[in-house]
Amino acid sequence: MEPIPLMTPYKMGNFDLSHRIVLAPMTRQRSYGFVPQPQAILYYSQRASKGGFMISEASGVSDTAHGYQDSPGIWNREQIEAWKPIVDAVHQKGALFFCQLWHTGRVSPYELQPNGQAPISCTDKKVPIQPEEAGPVVDFAPPHSLRTDEIPQVVNDFRLAARNAMEAGYDGIEIHGAHGYLVDQFLKDSTNDRTDQYGGSLENRCRFALEVTKAISDEIGPDRVGFRISPFSDYLDCFDSDPETLGLYMVQELNKLNILYCHAVEPRMGVVEGRNHIPHQLLPMRKAFNGTFIVVGGYDREEGNMAIKDGNADLITYGRPFLANPDLPKRFELNAPLNKYDRSTFYTSDPVVGYTDYPFLERSD
Ligand SMILES: Cc1cc2nc3c(=O)[nH]c(=O)nc-3n(C[C@H](O)[C@H](O)[C@H](O)COP(=O)(O)O)c2cc1C
Repeated sequence: MEPIPLMTPYKMGNFDLSHRIVLAPMTRQRSYGFVPQPQAILYYSQRASKGGFMISEASGVSDTAHGYQDSPGIWNREQIEAWKPIVDAVHQKGALFFCQLWHTGRVSPYELQPNGQAPISCTDKKVPIQPEEAGPVVDFAPPHSLRTDEIPQVVNDFRLAARNAMEAGYDGIEIHGAHGYLVDQFLKDSTNDRTDQYGGSLENRCRFALEVTKAISDEIGPDRVGFRISPFSDYLDCFDSDPETLGLYMVQELNKLNILYCHAVEPRMGVVEGRNHIPHQLLPMRKAFNGTFIVVGGYDREEGNMAIKDGNADLITYGRPFLANPDLPKRFELNAPLNKYDRSTFYTSDPVVGYTDYPFLERSD
């Protein structure tokens, strides 16, 4: 029998993948004190499959990078050492593992900042209080708008974090350029109100993201670098007046840096006849990008198969379905029913409940 499109092999740069189902980066807030914990060994290895591709939860690049309690970091020795057995367990299962690098920028309260200082951003505009369904409710602090001469230090923090990730054993890194966090704050014209070379024109707004990408590519090689982008999202009050042009410009510039992949977040999906329906607004970016194109956001088995079959994407990332189904590739292969995810335990701190206790398919052998 022909394998379904999601279960066909794919060569991503120098990496051989045996299927197209990617584990989404997902913040789980179980890294107490910003240090990855042993329970993550089980969580990630449960979701690892031979020739599969996995992206870690967003990991802070410096001590100013955090917006949420107990999300992990990758800026100090203790964190690097703590990641090692987690990465190792994933490799033992034969999967490829990239670390998502994160700076939340203005999406942070004073309590999580060193010395209770203001979080940094490209702006001094505060994030409005967010609705509860968007995640944990936090009153984010009014940010300090970075001076032009402070920006190279932040770029350097990303570079050093990428180096740390490689030392921890990761195969590469993904820059979190999506969802209203620091990189996205620079990209979008709702948040970026700068008047220096990092604000104003599209080219200027993309400068920070591209400097980060270049610095990391120079450090670990562009063939180990991915970039996550969500031009259409308005999460955390970060949106753009011309997302099509922003997305297209970014992939064209990323082409010049020769990075491995672009990981693009779908705009909100429409529901057609009771099913999710992908609007395909990312297609111009897909066509313009030279590397591997990964899409995410609301995909199910059928939409994923269709996107691969039609050539609209090379790989499909699954978030909530993979969170709740550690053996998701197997279930898709067999067209088996899926466990439902429990939103109430997405961000709780229990090392087991809602984390490593989602059941696998009963084995028939
Ligand atoms: C619990 C949870 C945590 C998430 N954390 C991150 C994150 O750390 N970095 C990121 O880029 N996206 C994050 N996301 C977004 C997912 O990567 C993904 O884009 C989203 O869940 C949509 O995919 P889905 O419809 O398959 O769930 C998170 C989503 C969930 C549900």
